[in-house]
Amino acid sequence: MRYKVFGKTGMRVSEMTLGTWGMGGVGWDDNPEEVRQDAIRAAVEAGVNFMDTAPAYNGGAAERCLGKTLEDMGARKDIMISTKCGNVFVDGVTYRRDGSASGVRRQCEDSLRNLRTDYIDLMLVHWPDPATPFEETMTELGKLKQEGKILHVGVSNFSQAQMEEAGRFCEIEAYQPQYSMVHRDDEALIKWAAEQGMGVMTYGSLGGGILTGVFRELTAFAASDSRNRFYKHFHEPVFSRVMELLKVMDRFSEEHDNVPLAQIALNWCAQKEFVSTCIVGAQHRRKVFQNAAAFEWSLTPEEIADLDKAISTYIPTN
Ligand SMILES: NC(=O)c1ccc[n+]([C@@H]2O[C@H](COP(=O)([O-])OP(=O)(O)OC[C@H]3O[C@@H](n4cnc5c(N)ncnc54)[C@H](OP(=O)(O)O)[C@@H]3O)[C@@H](O)[C@H]2O)c1
Repeated sequence: MRYKVFGKTGMRVSEMTLGTWGMGGVGWDDNPEEVRQDAIRAAVEAGVNFMDTAPAYNGGAAERCLGKTLEDMGARKDIMISTKCGNVFVDGVTYRRDGSASGVRRQCEDSLRNLRTDYIDLMLVHWPDPATPFEETMTELGKLKQEGKILHVGVSNFSQAQMEEAGRFCEIEAYQPQYSMVHRDDEALIKWAAEQGMGVMTYGSLGGGILTGVFRELTAFAASDSRNRFYKHFHEPVFSRVMELLKVMDRFSEEHDNVPLAQIALNWCAQKEFVSTCIVGAQHRRKVFQNAAAFEWSLTPEEIADLDKAISTYIPTN
């Protein structure tokens, strides 16, 4: 495993962060609790020391799975946890923004309970809440920090203007954007965030799984499945373009002892100097180890340039 300093926080995080959205059991392939817990154990064994979760991942179910596993392993103190606030999973289908001071505090207390801990390493505002001034949300986060309940504060899915405004009321130390070989829309913003000294943790680093090469034909996911609802590259016209990119990755893999495509995608992302760590969602021990093995080798600058050229050819940015 490789490690990087996470912006100005001083945290030394693994370049792979384990994502736990799927572990909530809603919106992704379902797995027995034991299989999910074993994936978390595998990540710890592989040297992953950063885990990302949220109360919105099925009303705290993912947090509870993570909290129980780390407690059973006695590993809490060795692992840094990011969780989120401001986005509530209401009824099994709908998400509601809530950046109010009382909502942020309640969500923080719930997360501490779910995670079986008395501190959260990084608390992110999951999505901006248009109904609440940033002053209210960020001031409350500042108070929670002063109380020692959270150690660092960050945001996800914010624009630059939103970060500049929110940062007036509490320092933003981390940014969590979507970024991968199939989603570079926010690259300029991510570079800006890194220049400000924020730790950058990318989500959807495997494009929701499409960059593993597992999906070679359009798949009809359930309406509630995140690959149907959230990741546009599982739909046309982007899907066919991604298939062309996968052919380039297939050739690259053949020339490199059939390295899994996921490892190419993760190294492409992690080796960008403005990325601190790539979040990868995986619910199986085998996939966790396969992904972690990406961080035992690196792409050369020439290889990254070749991949960048193929990406520019096939995947337009918005
Ligand atoms: N801040 C936000 O708004 C936001 C939004 C989205 C995600 N996130 C965070 O980022 C994390 C990662 O994003 P994501 O989970 O949406 O997408 P992702 O990591 O790009 O892809 C996850 C998908 O890839 C599959 N996968 C992983 N490794 C694989 C491998 N080696 N071979 C085959 N398939 C593999 C997973 O399978 P299984 O899970 O079935 O094993 C899952 O279906 C989330 O879990 C969450 O923590 C944050």
